[in-house]
Amino acid sequence: MRLPAPLMIVLVTLTSAPSCQRPGSPPRLLPDDHALAPAASAELRAACALAEHRCSRCHPIDRVLLVDVATPRQWQDQVTRMRRLAGSSISPGDGDAIVRCLVYRSFGPAGLAALEPGGSGASSP
Ligand code: HEC
Repeated sequence: MRLPAPLMIVLVTLTSAPSCQRPGSPPRLLPDDHALAPAASAELRAACALAEHRCSRCHPIDRVLLVDVATPRQWQDQVTRMRRLAGSSISPGDGDAIVRCLVYRSFGPAGLAALEPGGSGASSP
């Protein structure tokens, strides 16, 4: 190698950087999603970004991260309750997306399946 030393350092630094760097502010709510199909991953990423935005207006997002839920249904109830608070400005559609993020976070793909119509955790329409 006849590269000048400073250039070598730059090259080494660049090539040894982690290959999957997270962008600026990754959704903290979304756990490791490498197992997800790309489409589902994109959907959940967007849903979790929405959740972080909407659910951190009145209290820190930690309030959401710390809560312990036992069933997907409990996330639906929590989100519905928060959505109905005065000034939440969370639409029903946003609420559904947020629920999917939180359910995936707590229960993984099985939790999402339970949200589908006929799933064990589905709410009445
Ligand atoms: C309009 C303001 C507001 C928004 C927006 C909001 N919250 Fe809350 N949240 C509150 C208030 C006020 C409390 C405490 C009183 C209560 O529990 O009702 C609270 C409490 C909570 C708790 C604790 C409940 C418990 O039993 O300890 C959780 C979990 C929670 N919020 C989740 C969420 C989620 C998820 C979102 C987004 C969908 C959200 N919040 C958005 C106002 C808000």
